[in-house]
This record gives sequence, structure tokens and C-alpha cells, in this order.
Amino acid sequence: MKVAVFSTKAYDRRFLEAANTDHGHELVFFEPHLTSDTAILASDSPAVCAFVNDQLDENTLQALANQGTRLIALRSAGYNNVDLTAASKLGLTIVRVPAYSPYAVAEHTVGLILTLNRKIHRAYNRVREGNFSLDGLLGFDLHGRTVGIVGTGKIGVLVAQILKGFGCQLLAYDVHQNPECEALGAKYVKLPELFQASDIVTLHCPLTKDTYHLIDDQALAQMKQGVMLINTSRGALIDTNAVTEALKSRKIGYLGLDVYEKESDLFFEDLSEDVIQDDVFQRLLTFPNVLITGHQAFFTENALKNIAETTLSNITDIEQGNPCPNIVTPEQKIAA
Ligand code: NAI
Repeated sequence: MKVAVFSTKAYDRRFLEAANTDHGHELVFFEPHLTSDTAILASDSPAVCAFVNDQLDENTLQALANQGTRLIALRSAGYNNVDLTAASKLGLTIVRVPAYSPYAVAEHTVGLILTLNRKIHRAYNRVREGNFSLDGLLGFDLHGRTVGIVGTGKIGVLVAQILKGFGCQLLAYDVHQNPECEALGAKYVKLPELFQASDIVTLHCPLTKDTYHLIDDQALAQMKQGVMLINTSRGALIDTNAVTEALKSRKIGYLGLDVYEKESDLFFEDLSEDVIQDDVFQRLLTFPNVLITGHQAFFTENALKNIAETTLSNITDIEQGNPCPNIVTPEQKIAA
């Protein structure tokens, strides 16, 4: 099947081409994001392959459907950027990669926690400049600290597993309790209790209408003074302005982000020669206790290989009329 691949980077191309030897699809790579303006690039492609910051809103989907596209293969787990209701009305099938390496994201999450706590990023720079002073690098033992995990699906439960190894006390909140998480000793509590009791709050739930700005002024007010907040899930789980105020008042003692609510204008691009216009993002970068990575939690060889293989298998399944376990429906959006 001819597949128009949007938001392509060299690494996407390398892994998709390698996996395609088993599938034989005609892959056409485009660097731009998919929007209603760039949809024209897919004009003769029955399938489109999209990533996290492609805009699959009603206008884009309508443009694709008008051109004959029937299948959208997301090379991501999250699908918050897709108007599933519009897709269903237009007869577009949406497939995704539900799990490619939950380990990659869980391990990156713990990397952010360790780096922020022990200030490894600051120590790296100091030592390279011959500054061996320890002032300002004081951390705390993770052992015995309470970590609140919001969302205990595939990634959340792995974070629980790793942190149990550190000797942390685990609290959890989810709309569905996961017995695997309970078996690790995590205690499910209501969200306010999790916020009140946790030294570290880490977010692993999807972005839905229920979780949009889950971390707002009210949630922050319930948290411990000096709490560590980690978000490797989706940017809009956090109200960035509220978090900025909480950093200024020192309510938040540490902030680790791999995602940002307006990341689509920034992440995955080299903007080092540009003047970044997003003042909210730039303000975050001024805090010494904020660590931001540019949506790289998924970025391991294992994950890219799995993403490429599952994406192309999904396309093959749909093309051949085989049952495909990775179809996303509007009902799932409500359930998620
Ligand atoms: P999953 O579907 O296995 O787990 C999500 C969990 O969140 C489920 O247990 C679900 O019941 C729970 N949940 C749903 N609504 C909730 C709510 N309102 N409150 C609390 N919990 C709720 O998903 P997985 O694989 O663990 O991924 C989690 C998120 O991580 C994804 O939605 C995605 O946004 C993000 N992600 C980020 C990546 C990155 O590179 N930074 C890469 C992959 C995923």
C-alpha cells in the first residue's frame, strides 16, 4: 500500500525502511507535520502515517478523506491529537502502536527523578569547568520516600516496579486498579490523598477531557511543599502557568518534563539559531530546579524498532482485511 509518512526524521526512515523489507509497502517520506495545509502531500496515498504532533483535526481528516485516504497509522501510543469522532464519520480507520517499549518511558522517568534529585546535570557542567564544589548539589535518599503514580497502566506499573527497587513507598491513582501494581505493594488512594502524601508525583495517564490540566492551582495547593512533579505523559496534563507560579513560590521543589502543552511548535526540531517566541516555555527554562527533555522518553532503539514493525503490520492487516488488534475507536477515547 502507498503510505505517506509525515513528520519524518532520519531515524524514522531508517527503522521504517528496515521493517518494510517484510511488508513491501510503498513508503513516501515527508518532513513537514501533517496539518490541513500539508495534507495535499498525501494526495494519492490510501494510507497516512502520523506522529504525536501531527494535527489530525476535523479539517485535516476531511482533506485526507477527500483525497482518498482510508487509513491513518499512528506511530505512537497516544491518540489525543486525533478527532476520532470525525474520523469515524469520514470512514477513516485509525490504528496505533499501543505498546512499543513501556520500559523506555519508565526508565526515562526515573532518569529525570534521579537527575533532578542529585543534580547530575549541574554536576556534569561544574566538573567539566574544574569546579568541584558541592554547594547546591544536595539531594535526598529516594529510599523511604513516597511516590504517587497517577495512571498505572503499562508505563506506570513499570515505574512502580523500578521505584520499589529503590525502597520507595508507592501510592497509586487510576480509574481502573491494576492488580500488578497492588502486588508491588502500591496502595490505591483518591487523588487528593495521593497529592497530599507524595514527595514525588509522576504522571502516566493519557490526555483526555478528564485529565486535561489535571495538575492545576487546586491540585498544586494540595501537594507537599517542595514536591517533585514529573510528567513524561502528555503536556496538557499540566497547566503550565499554574506550575510556573508554584515554582516561583517554591511549592514545587523540582519539575521534570518530557512533554509540554505547546510542544508541537518546538520539539523534535533544532531551534538553536532561532529566537523562541514561547515566553511560558522560556520562563520554565530559567528555574534551576527544572529539567526538560524534548519528548525523548520513547527514544530507544528497541522502541523505534517496535514502532516501525507494529505500524507496518497494522497497515498490512488492514490492507489484507485481517483482524487488527490496534484499531482506535471513538468509544476508546471516552473510556481512556
Ligand atoms: P496505558 O493505556 O497502558 O495506561 C494508562 C493508564 O491511565 C490506564 O491504566 C488508565 O486506566 C489510566 N487512566 C485513564 N484515565 C485516567 C484518569 N482520568 N485518571 C487516572 N488514570 C487514568 O498507557 P501507557 O502505555 O502506560 O502510556 C501512558 C501515557 O504515556 C500515554 O497515554 C502517553 O500519553 C504517554 N507516553 C509518552 C511517551 C513519551 O515519549 N514521553 C511515549 C509513550 C507514551
